[in-house]
Parts: sequence; C-alpha cells; structure tokens
Amino acid sequence: MRLKNKHIILGITGSIAAYKAAYLLRGLVKEGAEVQVVMTPAAKEFITPVTMSALSDRPVASEFFAANDGTWHSHVDMGQWADLMLVAPVTAATLGKMAHGIADNLLVTTYMSAKCPVYLAPAMDLDMFKHPSTLKNLEILQSYGDVILEPGEGELASGLHGKGRMQEPEQLVEEVVAFFNSKKKLLNKKVLVTAGPTYEKIDPVRFIGNYSSGKMGFALAEELANQGAEVTLVAGPVDLETSNFNIHRIDVESAQEMHAACLNYFPEMDAAIMCAAVADYRPKAIADKKIKRKADEMNIELEATTDIAAALGKLKTDNQMLVGFALETNDEEKNAVSKMAKKNLDFIVLNSLQDQGAGFGVDTNKITILSKDNNAQEFELKQKKEVAADIVEKLSQELQKL
Ligand code: C5P
Repeated sequence: MRLKNKHIILGITGSIAAYKAAYLLRGLVKEGAEVQVVMTPAAKEFITPVTMSALSDRPVASEFFAANDGTWHSHVDMGQWADLMLVAPVTAATLGKMAHGIADNLLVTTYMSAKCPVYLAPAMDLDMFKHPSTLKNLEILQSYGDVILEPGEGELASGLHGKGRMQEPEQLVEEVVAFFNSKKKLLNKKVLVTAGPTYEKIDPVRFIGNYSSGKMGFALAEELANQGAEVTLVAGPVDLETSNFNIHRIDVESAQEMHAACLNYFPEMDAAIMCAAVADYRPKAIADKKIKRKADEMNIELEATTDIAAALGKLKTDNQMLVGFALETNDEEKNAVSKMAKKNLDFIVLNSLQDQGAGFGVDTNKITILSKDNNAQEFELKQKKEVAADIVEKLSQELQKL
C-alpha cells in the first residue's frame, strides 16, 4: 500500500488508450490511493463512467452540474483536495486546451485550479505527436511546471508504428509512487546547464574549438529532468540528441552566444551547472573571406572571452546555486578550489586528465566534488550517467539547505 491516504485526481480524455485508464485506476486504488476520476465528454465515448466510478468507489466528475439534481461539481475543491493530478491518457486536443487556458470542460477547469503538481501522459498517433503544435503545447505545459510522462514507441491503435503510445498502467503507477516517495528530488526547480565546446570563428570556414563531446552536460540535463527539474540546456556544437520534454535546449556556437543565452535564463533559475568547455580566447577579428595561404608563418591575435561562470557568480542571489567544472592536468585540487572562489561557485566538480577513462569524449568519468566548506568527496570511475546522478544528488542536497 504505497499510496495510502494519497489523494489523486485521475483525468481521462478521449483517446483509445482510455481503456487502459481502468487498469491504471485499479493499480492506484490497490496501492491505497483515493482517486477522483474526472472525464472529458469525449472520454466517455471510449470507457464508461460506470466502470470508473465502480473501480474508484466515487462518482465520476464530468459535467459542471449533475444532470439529476443540479449539484455543482466544484473544480476548485477538487483542485485543492488533490496531492497529485494525473491526466492519462491526455489527447492533443486537451493538451492544447490546457496550454492555452481553454477551460470549456470540467477537466481543464480542474487542471487550472489544481494547487498540486500535474503529470501528463500523452497518447496519440505518431504524426499528431510530432506535429509542431503538439510539441509547442508540451513545451508550454512544461514551462508551467507540469511533468510530461513521455509516450513510448510501439504499435499504435491506427496500426502504424511509432512514438505516441501512452506509458503502460504499471509504469504510470510507479511514476506516481516515485512522486510520493519524493524520488523526484527537484520537482518545480529550474536548472540551467551548459554543455559541449564552443567554436570561435577565424574566418567563414575555420574556427578554434576543443574536443568536448557534451556527453557529461547532456547526461546531467537528462538526470535533472528525471528528477523533475525543468532544465534549460545551452549546448555548444555537439552531435547529441535530446528528446526529453522537460529539457528546453538552446543551441549556440560561440562563447559570446552561450554567455548571452545564460544571462537571459539565469535570473529565473534555482541553479546553474556550468559544464561547457568554453573557449578562453577568441580571434580578435573574424576575417570575412577565407584566409589564403601566403607566408610560412601567420599569427592570429586572440582576445579573452567572457568567463560565463564568473559572470553568473556575480549575479547569483542567496536563493541560487552555481556549480562549475574543473578539468585539470596538474595541481588539481588547488586549482579547482581557487576557481571555485574566483567564480563564486557553491561547489566544483573536478576531473583530472591524469585519470584513465575520465574527461573528453569517453563515456566514463571520475570526479571529486569540492565544496566551499572545504569538503572533498571522491567518487569511483563510473558511467557519465551515474556520475550525473551523483552530481544531481549533491545539488539537491545543497538546494534543500538554501
Ligand atoms: O577557468 P576554467 O575554464 O578552467 O573553469 C572551468 C569552469 O568555468 C567550467 O565550469 C566552465 O564551464 C566555466 N567557464 C565558463 N566560461 C568560460 C570559461 C569557463 O563558464 N569562459
């Protein structure tokens, strides 16, 4: 009974996957949850309210007024009663209404009155799912703090194969249990992550760059999103994909562009993790035509880029955390500690190029986390995904102390 005494609103909309909501409801009730079902008019075409009220042991709410006696179903009361609202399945139409405040049914009004976190489990055909309007709406809903439980790939009711299958009822029950176990440590937190290298143009076809693959920063963004955070990922030129709706990705090329994006987003963030390998210098002038080979020697005059971490360190408020990385080749701890102070970081993740399997390009990393209270935590060589989990765990502990 992992959900004893938990109050959950289960919203159901008009998708063929609505039949699975019966199994989902059964799973939630079995775990001890009290579930109030709210159905859109279209949902009732797919599964009857009788089934859902029998399984939840409560009348299903669907209309603003009960037809027989005119009792008003208060969406405000429901919204306040609930610890969690889960809409599964949620259609493209309802996503659109929620994103734009089209409150023309009880489910959307309940959503807009809900004081609790909202989880959304989309279900639709693959082309509808990848339509820009759906993607845009999901982005908007995520910016409201809602958590998108991404649909899986597989066979769809249309007979087509692709992304759009609602997560299975058992998986959804586990997501709900995880929420109540507070396994999601960063719900409603906003975190900025920088990742990858920067390219500093020399001429139209050449640049100064570095070997950073962006893997560590992307692993961090994924882990933060898995912990419920709303992530803004500012990525330099990398060959990596992101498909998590709780990650808002901004692609940049140069240190200057990365700096501008970070300045724009940092004020609304709870934390920022500076994982990018930002160029320290850029060509002072960018040639507008390809530079031709002439003499045996040539010089490119360089000027310093802005230290983004240090710039954010200056703007940081008491309610924000700033985390940096240090990739060192010598005097590792000493250099990392002085960087932490110089950039006003709360903690710094040190990886040494002297460690086998650590650093650029590879899938593993070996880190030491140094905190401003002089604490050093050394970790073993691990997959970058696991390293990300260690860093995110440290961040969530520190955020709780603020
Ligand atoms: O000074 P150094 O480049 O070694 O510091 C590394 C840390 O500073 C990393 O967190 C990196 O993302 C950040 N940094 C930055 N802007 C720069 C240079 C480094 O944000 N121009």
